[in-house]
Amino acid sequence: MNVAKIREDFPILKRLVRGKPLAYLDNAATSQKPRQVIAALVDFYENHNANVHRGVHTLSEESTAMVEAVRAKTAAFLKAPKPETIIFTRNATESINLVAHAWGRKFLKAGDEIVATEMEHHSNIVPWQLLAEEKGAALRFVPVELDGTLDLDKVKAAMTPKTKLFTFTALSNALGTVNPVPEMIRIGKSAGAAVLVDACQWAPHRPIDVGAWGADFIVFSAHKMLGPTGIGVLWGREELLEDMNPFLGGGDMIQHVTLEKSTWNAIPYKFEAGTPNFADAAAFGPALDYLNAVGLGAMREHEEALAAKAVAILEAESSVRVLGPKDPAKRSGVVSFNLAGLHPHDVGTAFDLEGVAVRVGHHCCQPLMHKLQCGGTARASFYLYNDESDLEALARALQRTVEFFGARSSKARPQAGAR
Ligand code: ALA
Repeated sequence: MNVAKIREDFPILKRLVRGKPLAYLDNAATSQKPRQVIAALVDFYENHNANVHRGVHTLSEESTAMVEAVRAKTAAFLKAPKPETIIFTRNATESINLVAHAWGRKFLKAGDEIVATEMEHHSNIVPWQLLAEEKGAALRFVPVELDGTLDLDKVKAAMTPKTKLFTFTALSNALGTVNPVPEMIRIGKSAGAAVLVDACQWAPHRPIDVGAWGADFIVFSAHKMLGPTGIGVLWGREELLEDMNPFLGGGDMIQHVTLEKSTWNAIPYKFEAGTPNFADAAAFGPALDYLNAVGLGAMREHEEALAAKAVAILEAESSVRVLGPKDPAKRSGVVSFNLAGLHPHDVGTAFDLEGVAVRVGHHCCQPLMHKLQCGGTARASFYLYNDESDLEALARALQRTVEFFGARSSKARPQAGAR
């Protein structure tokens, strides 16, 4: 993997932040975009822009073909045999809400159980709270261990004959924990539940094979994997998608409308009401091409090597506590940490002075932070274009932060009240 060449493709990496070269370590929040994706977006608006599925004129046929080609490319990325099982949404949050409304409202009843885990992002908790309240269903959680991992025996123990859905993150956005996804899917399926996998942090780094996984729903977002914002993906098992109610009502999702009633379009269009985000969908294609060309395997090796070095740099400072699993096999390119006595926002602001972009706060995982007795953390997350210069910047930022706030001798204590 030629990282120097890859970096040339990302114009934003040339900019200065506060007079320092940007060290972008906030990839778990959103990735930067290669010029191929930016150019595709400009090309779409300059040469092809027209609404999809609505015209017989040349531009509309071109834009429709471009979006449908990206749908097929997305299916291939997941080894899903049928492009119509790929639904484009606004983001992964909307994909989860789509399942909660279109599947959950139809198939869940009072007394049923939804099982999630304590390490979920709010987007994989709140839609289920709303659904459980509406249906009189119970929402239960597999506890997370204090090292940020899940115990498969506890996953098994959480399943009951009433469990209708098991939903979990493949990879923790807050701690970087890599979950044993195939085993967890097997446990959910053996219990007779439908299984939803939040693959937002997995899809940008690791391959997905829907057939081998055997889940029912998989969600992720284009913007975390070099693509534009505004495109979420929902892959669903074909027969479930066919049986589900629509999500939003409006144009394009119908087959026939009278003033009295309507019938629904075929999947995936049944779930794509209104004018879709076709320009960004078209520009997601070059992002997938880019990932395929570099290769997820090589990327992952590179990112995880950088993350391991980042852990070593951080842990060399006595006031730093790195959260999450110690076992490198259970860690990804996400490194969550605290400095003793410092609020994560102060850490993030001090790092920014050195041009280092990290996310700080609860990472949309308040229940997980509560479990770890930690109001928030600072989080460095790596992607294919990061290199040793980013590690040097991280080390410099850490040193300056410690110098600025004064050396602390104790190990980091939990931080309260971080947002
Ligand atoms: N879910 C994204 C993150 O963890 C935004 O940063």
